Formats: sequence, C-alpha cells, structure tokens
Amino acid sequence: MTYAKITGWGKCVPPAVLTNDDLSKFVDTSDEWILSRTGIQERRITHVELSELATLAAKRALAAAGLEGSDLDLIILATASGDSLIPNTASAVQRNIGACNAAAFDQNAACSGFLYGLQMGTAMIKSGVNRRVLVIGADRLNYYINWADRASAVLFGDGAGAVILEASDDACGLLAAKLGCDPERRDILEVQGPGTYVDRFHTSACYNIAFEGPEIFKRAINGMNSACQTALSDAGMSGSDIDVIIPHQANLRIIQTLAKKMGVGMEKVMVNIHKYGNTSAASVAIALCEAVEEGRIQAGSNILSAAFGAGLTYAGVVIKWGDRVTPIRTIDDELPPCDKSASELVSSAVEGCLQATAEGTVNFARSPKL
Ligand SMILES: CC(C)(COP(=O)(O)OP(=O)(O)OC[C@H]1O[C@@H](n2cnc3c(N)ncnc32)[C@H](O)[C@@H]1OP(=O)(O)O)[C@@H](O)C(=O)NCCC(=O)NCCS
Repeated sequence: MTYAKITGWGKCVPPAVLTNDDLSKFVDTSDEWILSRTGIQERRITHVELSELATLAAKRALAAAGLEGSDLDLIILATASGDSLIPNTASAVQRNIGACNAAAFDQNAACSGFLYGLQMGTAMIKSGVNRRVLVIGADRLNYYINWADRASAVLFGDGAGAVILEASDDACGLLAAKLGCDPERRDILEVQGPGTYVDRFHTSACYNIAFEGPEIFKRAINGMNSACQTALSDAGMSGSDIDVIIPHQANLRIIQTLAKKMGVGMEKVMVNIHKYGNTSAASVAIALCEAVEEGRIQAGSNILSAAFGAGLTYAGVVIKWGDRVTPIRTIDDELPPCDKSASELVSSAVEGCLQATAEGTVNFARSPKL
C-alpha cells in the first residue's frame, strides 16, 4: 500500500512584530483584554507579498526533504488572501521555486485550508496520480482588517508554512481525516469587500472582517470535536494514543476546551498563538513545523490536528510522523530586510479605515441579482 509521508517542512513568518501594546495605541483595546480572551501577545505583519512568504516556506520544506522544485508533481496553496485571484498565487510560488514539472492551484477553505490540502495531496499520492506534492498554508488576513473594529483587529497575523508529501511504503502520513463544512451559518464569519457579489462601482476600499465570535467559538468546538472523534476512530486510536495535538491557533480557550474533550493534557498540545495570533491557513502548518523544531514531534509520533474556518469549514486528522525529524538540508535564504516597524507597516491602512468609518463608507453594495 502507498502512503504519503511528510518528508519536508518549512515555515516563514515575517520579522515585523506588532505587540498588543502597539495595537492599543490605535485600537480601543488592551493587552489585558486580548491576552485573557484569546491568548495572543503579539502577531507578525508582512512587508512582502504573500507569494514571497509562501515561497520561502516552500524552499525550506524542499531543502528539509532534500528535493528540488523540479521534483514536484503538484503544488496546493491553501490561502484566502493571495496576491491575485487571476493568475493564482500558487503559480508565483511555482515559478519562484522552479517547479517546472508541477501542476499548481490555490484552494480556499479558510483556516482549515492546510488540512484540506493535506488530505487532497495525500489522496493524489495514494491514488497513484502524483508522487511528490507540496502543500502550503499561507495567509495575510491583516490585509482585510478594518482597524477601526476592535473585535477583529486584534486577532490575526501573517505567515506561511509548508510540507512535502512523498509516496512511501512506510505506514505513515495522514492515516485518517474527517473534513466537513457547516454552511447554515456561513454568514457568521465573512470578509466583506472582495468578491463578485460586490457592486464594483459603488463600493469602498476599506475591507471589513465581520464575525460573531461567541457563535463561531461554539460551532468551532463542536465541529473540531466531532471531526477528531471520527478521525481517531477511523485510525483505530483514542486520545490516549496521541503524542501531540496540533490545533488551529485561533483562541487559547478553544484549544484548551478541545484538548479537554479529547482527554489529552495541555502538555501535549502545541500552542504558539501568543507569538503569531491567528494566521489562518498558515496556522496549523506553522505550528507543525515548530513542533518538529522543538522536538515535540519524534519519529513515529501520533499527531492529532484540528482546524476550523470561514464556511464554516472544519477538519480533524490523525497523522503518523515518519522516521526523520531533522532536515536533510537547510538553506540560508531570508526575506528581504524590513526597514519599518509593524506599526508603520499598517499605518496607512489604519488611517484609511478610520477615515472610512468616520465617513460611514465601510459598507459594500451588493451587485444587482443576476
Ligand atoms: C473573538 C473572541 C476572542 C471574542 O471573545 P469573547 O469572549 O467571545 O468576547 P465577546 O465578543 O463576547 O465580547 C465581550 C466584550 O468585549 C468587548 N471587546 C471585543 N473586542 C474587544 C477588544 N479587542 N478589546 C476590548 N474589548 C473588546 C466587546 O465589545 C464586549 O463588550 P460588552 O460586553 O461591553 O458588550 C472569541 O469569541 C473567539 O475567539 N471566537 C472564536 C474565534 C473567532 O471567531 N475568530 C475570528 C475569526 S476565525
């Protein structure tokens, strides 16, 4: 039987750090509120396009696997904030890494996108269509933030993470996955602005992330809990077999509740939300990379991973790690230097959002019904 082994992993977080105290200078909030309600202390703001973050994560993952871009058959880029819709952003990454033999596409399952991509890549390998697949999760949701809305302005960070999947006889990789979507209340988490539903001649450039936090909180736990239970049972495992949980990093309280429901102690749960906030599709991918780097994942580890996102998409998966936790190669590549602080990077967007709010233009006329 063929499995899809994770043989390479890499992440890229931009260097500019926006702390809760920095945010409090232009958003009506406080470090105390953000930390106690979410677990976030700081987040990263990108100074380069999303494709550059995704490219560096991909290059690091390729090096860890000891591969070149030309070895890849397929690139799946999970994102909801690509550089452009047409052409897709995966093709920019493909060009940057020289993946001349690969197919490449973007996929949007919001914050669950990386786990959706992992299952798709695994299925392509197991079915024999592909042998080497690059799965990237990358997002810069800060681009969509209405900085005048304190509810959403404190939650998100930018970043990218990637893994290489390779066909293998070893019984490892994604052993079971339950993906789902709960569309009845898809309205409770919405990025207002981009999309063809907007009347493009009567609109504002101030995007807005609108959501009902407490309702998402409840549905996220229900969705991830049931998906994880299904994935565990399909893998013939229970919570006690799990060595590490890698959850989507949206809220520390959600993570703690999920761990409790799984019967797994918090010492086995990978948490990095304090450093990065919610990086959307990149969240699980970055956490997975850091869990390997920190030695939390070891050869043969059983990993339970879960995510939820707009849609409301959700996923619960069981992964068995392979035999190698050290990269075959590392690279010296870095992002271009950033000569601005994170506050400076967002300052013109903050100004624009405050102005649009004062003028009452943070609204989007829908296109006439087709
Ligand atoms: C978003 C989330 C952190 C909000 O936490 P919460 O405990 O549910 O807070 P509420 O939305 O009920 O708001 C509680 C109070 O804090 C206030 N508040 C909201 N954001 C605030 C902020 N950044 N700073 C200070 N106060 C804030 C609200 O106005 C409200 O005040 P009120 O009680 O006077 O009306 C939480 O609901 C959550 O994590 N939800 C799931 C994840 C999610 O939605 N992520 C976003 C998209 S993926």
